[in-house]
Amino acid sequence: MVEAEKIQLHRGLRDVYIDRTRTSFIDGREGKLLYRGYNIHDLAENSTFEEIVYLLLYGVLPTRAQLDQIDGELKASRKLPPEVSEVIRITKNAHPMDVLRTAISALSTTDSNIRDNSREAILRKGIRLTAAAPTIVATHARICAGKKPVEPNPELGHAGNFLYMHTGQVPHPEDASLMDKDFVLHAEHGINASAFAARVAASTEADLHCAITTGVAVLKGPAHGGAAESVMHMAEEIGSAENAAAYVQNRLKSGGRIVGFGHRVYKTTDPRAVHLREDARRLGERKGHPEWFAILQAVSNAMEPYAKRGICQNVDFWSGAIYHLLGIPTDLFICIFAMGRIPGWTAQVMEQAENNILLRPMLAYEGPMDLPYVPIEKRG
Ligand code: COA
Repeated sequence: MVEAEKIQLHRGLRDVYIDRTRTSFIDGREGKLLYRGYNIHDLAENSTFEEIVYLLLYGVLPTRAQLDQIDGELKASRKLPPEVSEVIRITKNAHPMDVLRTAISALSTTDSNIRDNSREAILRKGIRLTAAAPTIVATHARICAGKKPVEPNPELGHAGNFLYMHTGQVPHPEDASLMDKDFVLHAEHGINASAFAARVAASTEADLHCAITTGVAVLKGPAHGGAAESVMHMAEEIGSAENAAAYVQNRLKSGGRIVGFGHRVYKTTDPRAVHLREDARRLGERKGHPEWFAILQAVSNAMEPYAKRGICQNVDFWSGAIYHLLGIPTDLFICIFAMGRIPGWTAQVMEQAENNILLRPMLAYEGPMDLPYVPIEKRG
């Protein structure tokens, strides 16, 4: 037995490599992100989410015919089985992320491939879950608002259809394209906490629904996917750009953190935030509400001195303002992240399954040893 004090701990698994990957590459010092070798900047400017789903799942950018094929598969899986719609109704008072997690889990009860962990089955199930997630979120949001759920519209792309099912109106093309870009930017990000958790589930040979349910559960925490919602609450609390510097100073002085800043891997600006900043600015102007951008920009200016310590904007800093300006309620923000991330989790699970090893680390025990057992009637 190794003595507890001699064990080298890697708390938080910081800087620990657990495997090799061909899914995405992150250089946290340079602020570089590649999906399957392609720079996120090229993908964000030129590709649709449907192309990214294909790229992550099949490893290459699709031809036109391949894109049409996956687009058709996604559209064919948008509708929910009645059992799952019923689960959404029964759980409607829960947080949208809890409903999404529960409904994804419930989808396993109607999936004919549920026990099949072959590559082909994981691909098919990943596409089905990617397609169903926006319907779950929009259906739940409408039920909560006392409105009738809207059937998916096969004329619209994945992102535009989500906005349509949420509002009941065909979205402005620029709104649909912004939503699409947001999904592209959230689609994959290496072995973050939720992808790691999804891989742990997959490493036990649990099925994809288990792994994605796990991913959604882990994404919910404010240190991971919950930050966009917290950023919006922060912007509301600040109220106007003039108050931002004082807010930042007071918060940091009292030992608090500024949400939307800092990242375990990026020690410079998150490359995804660069796109969202510009989108938030333009969207605010187009919608006649430039105040949210102004408040966040003022927070960003106040945080500038912290950049040298590597505390920089992350993907969640601007995304909340974009969702808000698109008319999406704050408690749905994190679900948008989850909807975008399903292809990434699926790609990670496929990779885990291809070269599986049970993910099972160790804990260094430091409690008492060999205590004499005291029967219950003699315990004081
Ligand atoms: N505001 C102020 N200080 C921050 C900070 C933030 N958002 N993020 C990190 N720091 C500081 C910590 O206080 C700590 O300072 P110290 O060394 O003086 O104690 C240092 O930076 C390192 O923080 P640590 O928590 O060890 O880094 P991490 O890699 O474990 O944390 C996050 C990463 C994301 C959990 C962290 O940056 C955070 O809480 N950010 C806010 C929430 C958020 O935006 N999450 C979304 C991530 S995509």
